[in-house]
Amino acid sequence: MAKTKTKWVCQSCGYESFSYLGRCPDCNNFATFCEEVVQEPTAAKTNSASVILNVDLSAKKIKDIENDEKIRLKTDMQEFDRVLGGGFVAGSLVLLAGDPGIGKSTLILQTCKNLCSKKENKDPICALYICAEESPQQVKLRAQRLGVDAENLYVTNQNCLEEVIKQIDEIKPDFLVVDSIQAVYSSQITSSSGSVSQIRECTNILMHIAKQKNITTVIIGHVTKEGNIAGPKVLEHMVDCVINFEGDRYKSYRILRSIKNRFGTTSEVGVFNMEDDGLNEVLNPSELFLNPSDTSNCGCSIIATLEGTRVLLLEIQALTGSTPYPNPRRVARGIEYNRLLQILAVLEKRVGLNLSKQDVYINVIGGIDIIEPAADLGVALAVLSCARDIPLKNKTVMIGEVGLSGEIRAADNLEKRLKEAQKLGFEYAIIPKVNKNIAQKIEKLQIKTIQVTKLTDAIIQAFKQD
Ligand code: TYD
Ligand code: MG
Repeated sequence: MAKTKTKWVCQSCGYESFSYLGRCPDCNNFATFCEEVVQEPTAAKTNSASVILNVDLSAKKIKDIENDEKIRLKTDMQEFDRVLGGGFVAGSLVLLAGDPGIGKSTLILQTCKNLCSKKENKDPICALYICAEESPQQVKLRAQRLGVDAENLYVTNQNCLEEVIKQIDEIKPDFLVVDSIQAVYSSQITSSSGSVSQIRECTNILMHIAKQKNITTVIIGHVTKEGNIAGPKVLEHMVDCVINFEGDRYKSYRILRSIKNRFGTTSEVGVFNMEDDGLNEVLNPSELFLNPSDTSNCGCSIIATLEGTRVLLLEIQALTGSTPYPNPRRVARGIEYNRLLQILAVLEKRVGLNLSKQDVYINVIGGIDIIEPAADLGVALAVLSCARDIPLKNKTVMIGEVGLSGEIRAADNLEKRLKEAQKLGFEYAIIPKVNKNIAQKIEKLQIKTIQVTKLTDAIIQAFKQD
């Protein structure tokens, strides 16, 4: 009997080798290689998608390709729709990734409920939910809790993809959910479900189904211990959108973030609150993260940061204290570590604040990661406020990037940030003077703006109490 050919595949990045390797030369991870059987390419395999789906794949002229008028499927959840760039694009393939137990199945079941109550071209939208991880009874339990009793929602726990395709042909859904991609398998491949080859092949087949049958498909994927989507990069380039569902395990709010979106921007976030009756949208997250009565503590500052198109007001807390070690500790939660080092260096050189014998801790309340530099001023003032033990000016937001020579640099969308701060009851805003061209725009706002050019000016203003 002929010997079966095998290969070794890295389960982290998909790198292939003919022998076992302890460390992957591509992604540098240890002990990630698994043995898989090499499939001889057969006629059926080389054009598997066209054979399985029985569709016409011939090239067409771009002007002859039909375009659906009603291209966006709205989920009726503002937060989800915004992250998707205005709803699901019909026929798109979306990957929803997140830690186990974060609420992916809950979110998608609620989405099915909303979609199934809508009509498309006069026919109600029909959804098929492949619950490969749970039994239909378990899904029913969750559905009862969420009040889902849609007429056109079909549930199956079939996890063989070829069987799923038969059901798709029967039911002809407009919306398909695969929960999760790690639990389904294609019988064309011998390796076990969850392996990189299976995930890659299954996603490939699902991508063809989505495009050719115009079925909006959501694939749910688990995140590994390291925070990658299992079988990670291989999936990201195949799908149209990658959406991460994150949250603090000990808190009830959840954040939906788009990592890749072919049909919208990628910097959008959506905020939800997990309650007994499922996920509820949080339309004004600043209220959730802020407690304005607390802002008079030493070491606290409030910033207005942009997350996509939305302004979030967040509290930054700083703590400094003498260190018993020769190398003082710098801990940054929510802002980039190197950014903190840079701000501390500017404080030392331009303001004369020496922290070389002090530990510095920074925490952004709410578990949000701030990437934009306009938060610098808030961080610098929080550190100074704690080091000097003086609270910052009450009801004031800080906006601006701190340059290396101690200058305060411009921030985008200043008007939008100020409006949000005003809405939440803030009375003053320290803003960069370089944002001059918006002077007329902010004149009408009630919030009083204090324009500064240098960090030292900002410090004088920030510690002036009324
Ligand atoms: P689930 O959607 O099963 O998570 P995932 O699919 O990402 O693994 O959600 C599981 C968690 O959500 C579980 O800890 C219970 C909680 N939950 C609620 O708090 N309220 C609800 O209405 C539901 C359905 C779940
Ligand atoms: Mg689940």
